[in-house]
Amino acid sequence: MKTIKDVDVKNKIILVRVDYNVPLKNGKVENNLRIRASLPTINYLIDHGAKQIILISHLGRPNGKIVPELSLSPVAKSLQKLLPDHKVDFCSLSNSNYSIDTKNKIVLLENLRFNPGEEQNSIDFAQKIISATNAEIFVQDGFAVIHRAHASTEAIAHQLPAYAGFLLEKEINNLEKVLSHPKAPVLLIVGGSKVEDKQPLIDKFTNVADQIIVGGKIAADGYKSNNSKIYIAEDFDEDTIGSKLDIGPVSTGKFASFITDAKTIIWNGLLGYVEDPTYATSSTIVAELIGEKKDALTIICGGDTTGFVENLMEDHPSLNYSLISTGGGAALEFLLGKDLPGLKAILS
Ligand code: 3PG
Repeated sequence: MKTIKDVDVKNKIILVRVDYNVPLKNGKVENNLRIRASLPTINYLIDHGAKQIILISHLGRPNGKIVPELSLSPVAKSLQKLLPDHKVDFCSLSNSNYSIDTKNKIVLLENLRFNPGEEQNSIDFAQKIISATNAEIFVQDGFAVIHRAHASTEAIAHQLPAYAGFLLEKEINNLEKVLSHPKAPVLLIVGGSKVEDKQPLIDKFTNVADQIIVGGKIAADGYKSNNSKIYIAEDFDEDTIGSKLDIGPVSTGKFASFITDAKTIIWNGLLGYVEDPTYATSSTIVAELIGEKKDALTIICGGDTTGFVENLMEDHPSLNYSLISTGGGAALEFLLGKDLPGLKAILS
């Protein structure tokens, strides 16, 4: 995979596909993990003399229409706070006048999915973006959207010299280590609520992992398996009406001993109803044990799990993970061995 280190970016206009599909609340960014994760690439391009850095992203699913609540404008403000030394311009492109007229170093374009061409993987739309921006190099750094075949992930990568950014490189390198020659014992921890989402991962990892452990609502709802590699939580903390809202001390103890032994850990899905701190005990213990490991590859994936771990890290900055993945669906598809169109496009 060629990365931005393989190209001279000096005095060039660089188009960077980021994934700024972030949660908004009352018009403000609620969680800026994906924005922060794009900074190493942006800062590298600035430091190496790029003339202009044009950031492109989607937000939500506006289905090819302009939906004001899904404007990337709050994201531009959030990015501006993270890059106080540079002016971040925000450009709304209308379909009739598809051009930008700013010379500022950093520009964020409006939500690409306001244009139907984005999700149609339209070459025409990709070319429109290129001619509007005069971009000379394409950088793919939106790992979280790499599983989509859209104009800004696939079509565009065939129109310009294309390179991976540092976030994409980091995500792929870490996830790749899980699938090819991982250090044993390999442990998959699964939680969350939707068994239909997790079953493919469990199935795939029966060949990859030495141990799979299952908690969360899936376990509470009675998940069963005859596979000797799979340990399902056996006791639960309940509320007054008997709802099982966290895995209990026996199961947490077993989870802890598997974590202690493991050399490769992938955790996807919370183990209890963490919205209520009373039932966040097992998830907290597991997150701390994983984050304290010094000798293992540790990967956290899935939006709820990464959000939980990130919050915990605010109070416990010494916790450290090999990767807190920014891509829920993309990481899952990669781990399942599926083709990722956005990745394929920059490799070909
Ligand atoms: C995500 O949040 O998983 C990505 O941004 C992809 O978004 P999508 O599922 O709407 O394509």
